[in-house]
Amino acid sequence: MNEVNKIYLDNNATTPLDPKVKEAMLPYMEEFFGNPSSLHIKGVEAMRGIEEARRKIAGILCVKSSEVIFTSGATESDNWAVKGATFAHQKSGNHIITQKTEHKAVLRTCQYLESKGFEVTYLDVDGEGRINKDELVDSITDRTILVSIMHVNNEIGTVYPINDLARACKNKKKDIIFFSDGVQALGKLEINLEGIDLYALSSHKVHGPKGVGALIIKEGVNIEKLIHGGNQENRMRSGTENVAGIVGFGKAVELMYEDFEVKKKHFEKLRSKFLEYLGDMEGVRINSPQNGILMTLNVSFERVPAEILLHALELEGIYVSSGSACSSANRGASHVLEEIKVPDEYITGSLRFGLSRFTSEKDIDFTCKVLKNKLKELRV
Ligand SMILES: Cc1ncc(COP(=O)(O)O)c(C=O)c1O
Repeated sequence: MNEVNKIYLDNNATTPLDPKVKEAMLPYMEEFFGNPSSLHIKGVEAMRGIEEARRKIAGILCVKSSEVIFTSGATESDNWAVKGATFAHQKSGNHIITQKTEHKAVLRTCQYLESKGFEVTYLDVDGEGRINKDELVDSITDRTILVSIMHVNNEIGTVYPINDLARACKNKKKDIIFFSDGVQALGKLEINLEGIDLYALSSHKVHGPKGVGALIIKEGVNIEKLIHGGNQENRMRSGTENVAGIVGFGKAVELMYEDFEVKKKHFEKLRSKFLEYLGDMEGVRINSPQNGILMTLNVSFERVPAEILLHALELEGIYVSSGSACSSANRGASHVLEEIKVPDEYITGSLRFGLSRFTSEKDIDFTCKVLKNKLKELRV
């Protein structure tokens, strides 16, 4: 998968397209080019591709096909879930609860809603990025409409017990809508959506193409549409579908869950090897929680600016990320590392290593060897 002699460890930002996904997509860019809304055979062929992808994703998430609505990606899905649920229920309340280490697609949407008069509670997190369940439940009022808690954090890999949190919220207020951004959980965890009303997904994080994602909307959950037009996607999200993208997304999700236990063992091996190497280096702080998702390791190196280290690794053919890749346009310390209170001497020296099923043990050996040498060279 890696270009010759290149080691790609920025898989939380995006993943390389799996060649099998590309193969599945190609016919939908050539022979099956029809508009899925057309009534003739060209339309039917394209619609078949979409419906097969929908069935695959629904099957893996154990939801109904009609509950999978394709979008342009998770930023759209996050916006839709938060705004759509809030707008649909504004007659019964004006309060949203989320937490401080959500992705910006959720946080900035909440800030936008605050500017329109809604109230938002941003829950604090502990040193491992976790929220306190009692605090969450205590912050629910009779005006609370929506709770938005991500499934897995994209920067440090904290896994949130979303089913348990949703149950606790609904025990306090039955009609609360529970949304979870599942982008970094898809393909990495076995997903159970019991109690979850809305769930956001993105294709390019699972070796699928960019520009496609989904929002799972459980039957009976009322959410306002954001995009109006030709009534595609079960009349919920207008716009001619990204047919090849959707087909690729379906295939990508299927491949993520093929031989899942074997893949899990591979990640366990890679992570423990990586941690062992890091344990032998000085001035290293692991920012990821011990029981975080296996594929994400956020590490700070004392007295080494992350950007300098990142480019030093790049010169050796190793690609990693500093903080959140989605926010490379916003320089400065990562909001997640600030919220988990990474000490000052470490916060500017943080790198995120995101593993994929194409990462090999040799990749980890080489990366850690280079890292050790670069730290000696660059430490101020
Ligand atoms: C947790 C999380 N949510 C949302 C997004 C946005 O996804 P997309 O790139 O599909 O818009 C990302 C991407 O970085 C993410 O990691």
